[in-house]
Amino acid sequence: VPDGLSELLLSRVREVPDYPKPGIAFKDITPLLADPEAFGALVEALATLARELGATKIVGLEARGFILGAPVALAAGAGFIPVRKAGKLPGATLAQSYDLEYGSAEIEIHAEDLTADDRVLVVDDVLATGGTAEAAISLVRRTGAGLVGLAVLMELGFLPGGERVRKALGDAPYQALLTV
Ligand code: PRP
Repeated sequence: VPDGLSELLLSRVREVPDYPKPGIAFKDITPLLADPEAFGALVEALATLARELGATKIVGLEARGFILGAPVALAAGAGFIPVRKAGKLPGATLAQSYDLEYGSAEIEIHAEDLTADDRVLVVDDVLATGGTAEAAISLVRRTGAGLVGLAVLMELGFLPGGERVRKALGDAPYQALLTV
């Protein structure tokens, strides 16, 4: 992580108390997106990682992972592949469900847009429990493409998500630019 980047990014994340429920301090990245210096530095840091890993595709996770993943893909000369919540992708999909605190969720990918030659970097804004990222890692693996890493803007350090995704990634690297 380049000098001063974490401090710049952290200074543009707004904490919203009691959102979406009492007791939760929501990490709002919209001030960061509104600042072209900070947003640009974030995209450049993730694109540098993507280039170092030789990524040919960036997989972004709905919805905030799209906002980060698309410019990173273009800056790194890679394609962009959305992972969407169930029922949103029109073509043939692979689906993966994962557990939430109450109930479960399902995400999908268009597998035909990835090939065995692809090298995939998964990008998202926040890693909390790691459930979404872990499901996305499984989806990418199931397409037969190569998984080269997971990168997030921010890890919630008081949850065990980092440990969980490191296990799921095996030898592929995991990078969180910030831990809060
Ligand atoms: C948030 C965040 C990650 C996920 C992290 O997305 O953007 O994708 O939750 O949580 P986890 O590590 O516990 O799985 P959310 O489901 O709120 O979707 P959104 O981006 O569409 O608002």
